[in-house]
Amino acid sequence: MEVVHRTKLKEMTTREMTKFSKEHPQSNLLYKRAKNSLFAGVPMNWMTKWAGGFPVFVKQAKGSHFVDVDGLEYVDFCLGDTGAMTGHSPSYSVDAIVEQSHNGLTFMLPTENALWVSEELSRRFGLPYWQFTLTATDANRFALRIARAVTGRNRILVFNWCYHGTVDETFITLRDHRTGLRTGNLGPAVNPSETTRVIEFNDIDALEEALSHEDVACVIAEPVMTNIGIIHPDPGYHDALRTLTRRYGTLLILDETHTICSGPGGYTGKFQLEPDIFTIGKAIASGIPAGAYGLSAKVAEQLARVLSQEETDTSGIGGTLAGNALSIAAMRATLEFVWTEDNFYKMISLATQFAAGVNHIVTERSLAWHVTQLGARVEYLFQPNRPKNGTEAAASWDHELDHFIHLYMLNRGILLTPFHNMALMSPSTSQEDVDFHTKIFQEVVDELTF
Ligand SMILES: Cc1ncc(COP(=O)(O)O)c(C=O)c1O
Repeated sequence: MEVVHRTKLKEMTTREMTKFSKEHPQSNLLYKRAKNSLFAGVPMNWMTKWAGGFPVFVKQAKGSHFVDVDGLEYVDFCLGDTGAMTGHSPSYSVDAIVEQSHNGLTFMLPTENALWVSEELSRRFGLPYWQFTLTATDANRFALRIARAVTGRNRILVFNWCYHGTVDETFITLRDHRTGLRTGNLGPAVNPSETTRVIEFNDIDALEEALSHEDVACVIAEPVMTNIGIIHPDPGYHDALRTLTRRYGTLLILDETHTICSGPGGYTGKFQLEPDIFTIGKAIASGIPAGAYGLSAKVAEQLARVLSQEETDTSGIGGTLAGNALSIAAMRATLEFVWTEDNFYKMISLATQFAAGVNHIVTERSLAWHVTQLGARVEYLFQPNRPKNGTEAAASWDHELDHFIHLYMLNRGILLTPFHNMALMSPSTSQEDVDFHTKIFQEVVDELTF
């Protein structure tokens, strides 16, 4: 088995840091200026996570490429961490956004487009009733409130190392069989062990034990975990999850914000899953802020009984700008023209080739790494086998190597998702983009192993 040379890795990282700094003078200048008015020099705190010491500032983007303020061009496999899975500024969405912009942006009144979108969401994902939000985080927050309200239960259940947005109840981890605050969690109102049970994904016995107390309002889950690396469900796991949640009176919320990369109906549509509540966001409006949640007929009926129409504005669900005309117009264009069968076919085929390119090099070099694919999403992990749960996936994290690979790629015009070695294909991603990644991946592996 080939090993990565650690001393050499440190030297190469220093070399790449110098190269990055030298080749991005304008981004560096803007970053220095930004520190005077933006906290940590960035408009949103996660943007400090990029490799290189400062983020590249974007000048313009179209499709699968963007150009930074230093005039350097990149193939974008991060795509706004899924927010731009449609490719940047797809023409159909831009046209719909421009048209709606001339006709009013937000009214707190419905437009007819909202009906088209909800009918289409029902067709794709199976749930009959829909509501809109501005983010996937909000969709998840509201879904949790609804689940507690209609079941009369307080607790929720999550999978270890899940991520569902900045949702307080979900920031809990399981280490050595003990639950605790997720490291980095800032200012929680209460310790999430008061609100939440956490178990490992793919562990049916633990699931049954956790639900058998009959105090869990809902399980919130990505159908395939994506935020600690891609973790596929074992065969039969989803059947068990559905059977056990029904048996113990617990609702099932499926969060398809990332797993929509599985196909036009997401993982739910592809495998005919039957969530009680479904949530989605990020790319659903081609990058315009929007999210949505769907309710089963039963949950909708139960919600109607407990939601006071008089005091609906203080229910804790909803928001002034949610369901605004602009987001809805962008959602319609995305669903009608961008998230099509043909585009998904193309994206998934490219992802398969991306994975094959990586796999070939990993195998040829006998590296103890592996590559996983979920529809249009591919990821390489620094461990030989597919992880079965969050703990196994977290164990393969190698921050030093991760940082180096991201930086190496960035210095050669490739942007990967900063949180892991994740690449997403958009409808505009091309064969050349994928081949370019394979070429640079070969180069980085050569440097690491010789
Ligand atoms: C599965 C999942 N759900 C929800 C969210 C929250 O999305 P947003 O930050 O756009 O609200 C994320 C963000 O990464 C996510 O990965």
